[in-house]
Amino acid sequence: MSKGGAFDLATGVGGQINKKEVLSAVDTYEKYHVSYGGEEEDRKANYTDMVNKYYDLSTSFYEFGWGESFHFANRWNGESLRESIKRHEHYLALQLCLKPGQKVLDVGCGIGGPLREIARFSSTSVTGLNNNEYQISRGKVIWEKDLAEESPLPWYLPLDTSRLSFSSFRLTTVGRFITTNMVKALEFVGLAPKGSQRVQSFLEKAAESLVSGGRKEIFTPMYFFLARKPLSGTSEAS
Ligand SMILES: C[S@@+](CC[C@H](N)C(=O)[O-])C[C@H]1O[C@@H](n2cnc3c(N)ncnc32)[C@H](O)[C@@H]1O
Repeated sequence: MSKGGAFDLATGVGGQINKKEVLSAVDTYEKYHVSYGGEEEDRKANYTDMVNKYYDLSTSFYEFGWGESFHFANRWNGESLRESIKRHEHYLALQLCLKPGQKVLDVGCGIGGPLREIARFSSTSVTGLNNNEYQISRGKVIWEKDLAEESPLPWYLPLDTSRLSFSSFRLTTVGRFITTNMVKALEFVGLAPKGSQRVQSFLEKAAESLVSGGRKEIFTPMYFFLARKPLSGTSEAS
């Protein structure tokens, strides 16, 4: 079950990071994003640390605002965010032609939202692989298409502050305003670690950039491709 309450959000910020070190982790993480990102070799060397810090800091916000599955979905009129996410996971299972009993590897599985839904939907056994320890603890060929292109509702709609939504209230302008002040208060009284408000702030910035990239059609988070290794012993393999 996903942790969706204010207390879970507050106590989850920082993930595996010691609560007293959350603030310095936020500092380090933000420094990875100065306008010039540093030498390529340094960036490569710091990649794992950057990803880990990001997911340690942001996972409880994801769960609070989005749910157990950390991806976007194309969306139909009248469909809630949750319904569209589940439908998209079913769609992926169908595209992969998953059959009961098959073994599947989910690389970069987050906290396992899609993994669990796809395993249930297709009666397969899905193993998750992830480089972020906190998310693991929270969760225990060729065909290409940009699924977002045919979406009746834009994939970035849940993050678009100009819309009203009761089903995804936490993502609306008012919902975010409440979350901002709630996180501030939780940080002030010491329930949330120092730095929590800054995490919320950089996630807000990321959301704004996603909406802007989506509107300009220069970014999609839903580029899907299906790949299969050639079957051994067939002409495809030679
Ligand atoms: C945007 S999240 C998506 C998670 C999940 N697929 C979902 O939709 O809920 C990307 C995930 O990839 C994981 N990841 C990033 N780089 C990785 C790597 N080199 N090896 C394994 N996992 C990685 C992150 O920890 C994170 O869980």
